[in-house]
Amino acid sequence: MMNTELFSRAVQVFQNYSPGSFVDVRVFFAPGRVNMIGEHLDYNGGFVFPAALTQGIFLFVRPRQDRIVRFCSLNFDHVVEASLDHLLYVREDDYANYPKGVLWVFQEQGFSLTGADFLFAGDLPSQAGLSSSAAIEVVMAYALNALHGHALPLERLVLLAERAENLFVGVNCGVMDQFAVGLGKAHHALLLHTSTLSFEQVPFLFDHVRIVIANTNKRRELADSKYNERREQCGKVLVAAQQMYPTLRFLTDMTEEMWTEFCPRIEDPILVKRGRHVIHEHARVVTAAKALRQQELARFGELMNDSHRSLRDDYEVTGKELDALAMSAWRATGCIGSRMTGAGFGGCTVSLVKAAAVTSFEAEVRDTYVREIGIEPSFYVSDFGDGVHEMTEEVRELWPF
Ligand code: GLA
Repeated sequence: MMNTELFSRAVQVFQNYSPGSFVDVRVFFAPGRVNMIGEHLDYNGGFVFPAALTQGIFLFVRPRQDRIVRFCSLNFDHVVEASLDHLLYVREDDYANYPKGVLWVFQEQGFSLTGADFLFAGDLPSQAGLSSSAAIEVVMAYALNALHGHALPLERLVLLAERAENLFVGVNCGVMDQFAVGLGKAHHALLLHTSTLSFEQVPFLFDHVRIVIANTNKRRELADSKYNERREQCGKVLVAAQQMYPTLRFLTDMTEEMWTEFCPRIEDPILVKRGRHVIHEHARVVTAAKALRQQELARFGELMNDSHRSLRDDYEVTGKELDALAMSAWRATGCIGSRMTGAGFGGCTVSLVKAAAVTSFEAEVRDTYVREIGIEPSFYVSDFGDGVHEMTEEVRELWPF
């Protein structure tokens, strides 16, 4: 469903920034994502279970032919301009580095481009771990593909977006976020196998349950370096495991039995904890998918709680803010399950809450969080929405010019 207030503001800003008729303007949308379970598994080749949200990023585009690209955003006070022949990462350009990265990747892969005025508008909090950057990248890749008639399949666009983040922005993320943003489906969660990219849309629609996202409102300091450190630690565990199992390609290819055999060989206790999280979390995703297919929501909720404990105690990526939110949620009225979502180190939790109890749930969690942490959390009651798509037709009717 469209956020009409945000949308009217975007139309006005776009009209001032890039005046002209609507005839050559196109509008696209990509959602944010929440991961229900399966954390820090995408770079270990395993299953993850995210879903696209209904909140996300709109992109307005007016093509131009002079190889100039301009970026405007409702959340940023100046226009960034660049030439397609000179695309560089510039720290001060902030969010605009993501679309620049996608333009760079398209050209690097041999796809021709012309130029355009872009405007980004969104209702997705940034720095909250809900993948606003992946939404920007994927909506950009989708728009470029549509505008230039390249006819690339969605899976390819998702991989181009991930490549932009890895190589141009320099963040070593896995493929989960871009994939969920690209291939999410309303009222479904996406069970994705990250080394083969095979996936299944599993229905997730329960009238009596709401998805409540709670934001720690903590800045995610050092998140990238700690994320990279976890990746390296997993790499070390894999190399050690390959001594015993030479054909192993990813950590998640190890069963729990193989792990039990191998684990005593690891000397560093930190690496034991990191490996233990990966192996057990992977088993949890498979069980969670089974539980969801059988509509066993209580079981799904327990697995979410176990996942948080593992991320807290073994993977050590939660921190006191996420722990305060998740642990108060476990005690709160109507909570079926709650865990941190995304990379961690701040960001958000996701909770399944009985619809009738959402208000008291929020009040109880807020009280504990404010008492323990001293700042206000934010809450978003969300639904699972569709992945990236074009909205030009819907928007045409609302366009006042
Ligand atoms: C971030 C990354 C993802 C994934 C998660 C952890 O969101 O961008 O690729 O690794 O962390 O599950």
